[in-house]
Amino acid sequence: MQNCYHQVYAAWKRDPEAFWRDAAADIDWFKPPERIFSPDASVYGRWFEGAETNSCHNCLDRHVTAGRGGETAIIFDSAMTGEKRRFTYGEALGEVKAIAATLVDLGIGRGDRVILYMPMVPQAVFSMLACARIGAVHSVVFGGFATSELAARIDDCAAKLVITASCGLEPGRIVAYKPLVDQAIEIARSKPEHCLVLQRPELRADLVSGRDQDFEAAVAQHRDAEVACVSVKATDPLYILYTSGTTGQPKGVVRDNGGHMVALNWSMRNIYGLKPGEVFWTASDIGWVVGHSYIVYAPLIAGVTTLIFEGKPVGTPDAGTFWRIVSEYHVRVLFTAPTAFRAIRREDGDGELIRKYPMPDFRALFLAGERADPETLKWAERMLGVPVIDHWWQTETGWPIAANPLGLGALPVKHGSPTLPMPGYEITVLDDAGHPIEAGTLGNIVVKLPLPPGCLPTLWNADDRFRSAYLDEFPGYYKTADAGYVDGDGYLFIMSRTDDIINCAGHRLSTGAMEEVCARHPDVAECAVIGVNDVLKGQAPCGFLVLKRHVSRETAVIESEVVAMIRESIGPVAAFKTAITVNRLPKTRSGKILRGTMQKIADGIPWKMPATIDDPAILEEIAEALRKRGFGSLPM
Ligand code: COA
Ligand code: AMP
Repeated sequence: MQNCYHQVYAAWKRDPEAFWRDAAADIDWFKPPERIFSPDASVYGRWFEGAETNSCHNCLDRHVTAGRGGETAIIFDSAMTGEKRRFTYGEALGEVKAIAATLVDLGIGRGDRVILYMPMVPQAVFSMLACARIGAVHSVVFGGFATSELAARIDDCAAKLVITASCGLEPGRIVAYKPLVDQAIEIARSKPEHCLVLQRPELRADLVSGRDQDFEAAVAQHRDAEVACVSVKATDPLYILYTSGTTGQPKGVVRDNGGHMVALNWSMRNIYGLKPGEVFWTASDIGWVVGHSYIVYAPLIAGVTTLIFEGKPVGTPDAGTFWRIVSEYHVRVLFTAPTAFRAIRREDGDGELIRKYPMPDFRALFLAGERADPETLKWAERMLGVPVIDHWWQTETGWPIAANPLGLGALPVKHGSPTLPMPGYEITVLDDAGHPIEAGTLGNIVVKLPLPPGCLPTLWNADDRFRSAYLDEFPGYYKTADAGYVDGDGYLFIMSRTDDIINCAGHRLSTGAMEEVCARHPDVAECAVIGVNDVLKGQAPCGFLVLKRHVSRETAVIESEVVAMIRESIGPVAAFKTAITVNRLPKTRSGKILRGTMQKIADGIPWKMPATIDDPAILEEIAEALRKRGFGSLPM
């Protein structure tokens, strides 16, 4: 296929409004867009202001109306229970209508917020779509987050309803979700009125009388109910997805209805190269943006079959599970995080399990969520014999900023680069003072405003935080908080974050939030948490504790208490396993903790004694403490 990326990108640049007007023609509107972009609306402008639509209608109803009601919309495969199911568009629509009627019966209406805390089961996806159908705003919280994280989200969006399940299934462990939800509701200031609980056979939950209802029983009362799609504004919120910020208070990324559908639909055909009826599998979780966009909304909007998978790349039961699924369901394109491939490679380096499954329909592997290390990428290319495409995006953008667009004819690959910017995104690299810098030089990666359709218009109830976090530092640009460079051919290289976010197993975590928890330990005077390289997870958090004077308890006991506190407060997903007690933290003369240098020491990267350091001996102590734990390097 002849590559036409450059023509398409140039067409967008010449006339962005015409470009998005054309893309919007592939969406069903109840009131078609007259204005494409309104520069004066909201914080930096809004897309499709005045138009009306419904995301659930575009995911389901319109395919049924088009005569595709008998085709498969959703495949469910649980490697945890062995359950396998298929839902046609017609069946999925029936499920969604019944849940929507249940929500209406519980008093949920347009604009109300509903928290979902669910494992990877079809009911979770149907519940998201049911919210969309009635114009309610869903907010999915990843099951690996603990009670206080859940409570913070319930409070921030003032949820009226929580939809949950009795349990999640992790290898070797049943995670009781319901007690976590009960505690979260107890500590939340804003109390949801109702809780719908999906009872799973592996563990049944106790229901709180007057507040909780059995999900299946409640929905059964509304089978065959007719609930029409509510006409919502293109600019109305579809969902809020909380993501790590630089403090313990997560950021509520808002996604609208209209721009989101237009951008996702465009991406399915042009970036992922998929046609209606083909099978697309995103091996992630609906708790993350990757799941929202590419398990739920994008495939269904585009009429592509999506796959919901409950399980892990390894251990459920082995490293061949992904290939079993690709083979069994004729998956054309798989999208996952590089960490999943590092896990598979560790168990099946020679690709014996890959060869076990014929995959004649498999066309490409897409990777995102963290830097795709070239070694893993090359291994996947060798083993799979299909293009392996690294692409870069964020919760905030909702769809790829940079990619190698398969649907436009793939571009030459440069290992370590997610390739070129997608239409909608004009990328620049700036120095810290905001001046553009030359090709090949590392700097702050920014996107020229306005952001394209699909990207966040603001943070939930927090326009000022949105401005200060993303727009104020580099006026006229959105700050991605990623550092990197553009080479002479315009290829992007994403190297690291410029804030305290780390990426652990493809999960975005805030070390600042972990520091807040460490600091709450009664024996801890001061602390710092950094991300250190991890062969499997990419990065893993590592905490340094300075104890209060006169603390005489065993440091090992205090360290394990801090590890337990983080698991309890943030959740197992934080994967915080290492806390190291030190006498002092290295600081500049102005009192700033030298986290960057500590990270270099821990990662074994040669480091220099910073000129601004207050007391050089402290870094030597840190290096020694790290060496004792098997990390570290010597100064240059
Ligand atoms: N509910 C409850 N607990 C969960 C959970 C969930 N939905 N998801 C993860 N956890 C727990 C895990 O059981 C683990 O607990 P443990 O400390 O008791 O072992 C902890 O959170 C850390 O999870 P994770 O970092 O995912 O590590 P892992 O060892 O369980 O799995 C991988 C590692 C690489 C196999 C896994 O992270 C993976 O498949 N990642 C790639 C796909 C992906 O999800 N990407 C996300 C964005 S694209
Ligand atoms: P999230 O919001 O969880 O999707 O995480 C977004 C962050 O993950 C980005 O800001 C990057 O730091 C990182 N990231 C995502 N995709 C890539 C990629 N392809 N290469 C490098 N980093 C990536």
